[in-house]
Formats: sequence, C-alpha cells, structure tokens
Amino acid sequence: MEDLEDLRSELLAAAEAAADLEALERVRVSALGKKGRVTGLMKGLGAMDPDARRAAGQALNRVKDEVAAAIEARSRTLADAGLEARLLEEGVDVTLPVRPEQDGRVHPISQTIDEAIAILGEMGFSVAEGPDIEDDWHNFTALNIPPEHPARQEHDTFYLPGEGEDGRMVLRTHTSPVQIRTMQAAEPPVRIIVPGRTYRCDYDATHSPMFHQIEGLLVDESTHMGHLRGCLIEFCRAFFGVDDLPVRFRPSYFPFTEPSAEVDIGCTRDGGDFRIGHGDDWLEILGAGMVNPKVLENCGIDSTRYQGFAFGMGIERLAMLKYGIPDLRTFFESDLRWLRHYGFAPLHIPSMVGGLNG
Ligand code: PHE
Repeated sequence: MEDLEDLRSELLAAAEAAADLEALERVRVSALGKKGRVTGLMKGLGAMDPDARRAAGQALNRVKDEVAAAIEARSRTLADAGLEARLLEEGVDVTLPVRPEQDGRVHPISQTIDEAIAILGEMGFSVAEGPDIEDDWHNFTALNIPPEHPARQEHDTFYLPGEGEDGRMVLRTHTSPVQIRTMQAAEPPVRIIVPGRTYRCDYDATHSPMFHQIEGLLVDESTHMGHLRGCLIEFCRAFFGVDDLPVRFRPSYFPFTEPSAEVDIGCTRDGGDFRIGHGDDWLEILGAGMVNPKVLENCGIDSTRYQGFAFGMGIERLAMLKYGIPDLRTFFESDLRWLRHYGFAPLHIPSMVGGLNG
C-alpha cells in the first residue's frame, strides 16, 4: 500500500492547492470521478482474494472519504473568499456626498400633492384615504347621485365585473366616496383631505383615464360658506404664491353639495402669454360647496346639528398651471428626460416655513 499513501498525500495536496472552484473540480474528477484514480483502484479490488480485498477496500475507502472531505473544505474556503472579494470590490462608501447629477427627481404629481398637504395640513386638515375600487353606493348613491341621475353619465365610469354588497363595483370616478367612508367611521368634527387616484373613460391632451384629485371635507356644528371661502382663497394664494390672487366663487351644481360653487382664479391671456394673477380673465380650478344635508343623513350624521363644506380639485390641472406643463398625457409616459426637466429635488420637502418648491 506504499503507493496508496503517496496517492493520498498527492490528492490532499492538490485539493489544498486548488486556486479556484474550477481547479478544485478538476481535482475531484481526477480522483473520485468515474475514471478517477481512486475509483480505478476500487475497480481493481474485484481481482483480489477475499482477505487482501477486505484490507485494501477499507484503506481505499478511508482515502476516498479523506479526499472528499478535503475537497469539500477547500470548496467552502474558496466560496467564502469569493464573497469576501466581491464585497470588497462592490463596496460603496456611504460617507461620500450626494452627487446631484445622479439624483432621482420627484414627479410633479407627488410634488403638487405634497404642496397641497403642506398648506391644508397647516390649516388643521389630516390626510385620509380610501380604495380605488369602490362600489356604486359609495361612489354615487350615498353622494346623492341616485341611479338614472344624469350626473352618472358625465362621469364616464369604468365598471368592473361582479357586484359587491353595495352594488356594482367601479373604479372611483372622484375622491368624494372617501367623504362617505370617513363620515360613516367617525363622529364630527371631521377635517380631512384626500389625495388619490381617480378614473374616467376619457383620453386627450387634457384628460387621462387615470388622474388625481384632492378632496377636502370639514364637518362641524357651525360651519358656513364663509369658512369655505376663507379656506379656499387662502389655499389658492398659498399654492400659486400670489398674495393678492383674485379668487371668484361662481354658482354651480353638484348633487352632493348645496349650495355649490365652481372656483375661478384670475389670470391673463395675452396672445400666447398666460399668467396667473391679476388680469382680465378667469380660470376654473375646483368645485366646492356646503355638504348636502342628504349626504350627512346618508352617513348617519344629524343634519340639524351639523353642517359641512367640501371641495375637490384635479391635481394634474394644478400642476400644469403652476409649472407650465402643456400636455397632461406626458405625466404618465415615464419619459426620464421629461422627469429630469419637470421633476423636483428629492431632498426638498415642501412646507409652509421652508417654502413649497425649492
Ligand atoms: N367630486 C367633484 C368632481 O369630481 C368635485 C367636488 C368635490 C365638488 C367636493 C364639490 C365638492 O368633479
């Protein structure tokens, strides 16, 4: 067995010396593979007489196990070293300063929502949310838009297959159903704003089938139209950054508010030049009104004790006006060049004290 001892040392040394996993695999195949040297010796056992075969077989098995264990140990060492090397190579220095040219940008929709939240949040509104997939009752009926009401047609609703407990399922056509969910869940006083996605089957330069609204709802014991006016005038002036921005309330109709108003801001359209502020023209930016008592009653709120106001506005429209973005469809094209141009610095959080847009 002199040469078995030599073979053992040779193979153990070869395993230990393998520089990488590929070299180690070659050692394994040459020793333990089908045509390997240990395997070859095993095959020779058959020709021996029984006593010699037993002794040689035991010795060979020991060598085989030892070599296999050495290969396994070396393989683990090599894998660890590989990981170590990769970690070193791919390491990042987290103490390096930010490189502004490689920053991501905040999408104008997110920016506009954050700005609206900063203004209305400071007035005491808190953010509420509701599901994008609504049922007919929350989206329409509870808001005093009964079946067959003409307002339903104007909403170009996306209906979904199937019925919930409260009627057909729809993609919410406005954020107003969150008024209902909020009033059902909590006693007044209520003071919420609801930023979120809304859906209508419409598509051109000023309409997208998915768009965003921000809803406001305030319900308390002595709420009146003056509060609504003050709140919205203040909002418009803060949002557009024009202290004396003219704001006009024009009578309108929504089934869920009574009386209802559309709100316009002053602007100038001088040939191709458009500016927000004092001027000879008006631009509609939102809908509002006093919560219809029927809506309060639909939510189990005593309308002889409580009154409320509500408003709703389109985020894309606000963003287009404030930031001079001409086509609504570009908001959702995920074009990085567009985002670099119209996006906002991520480390600037809009606030009333720090400024809305940095
Ligand atoms: N929900 C209305 C719309 O989508 C907007 C609105 C909200 C009007 C609240 C009045 C009060 O057009």
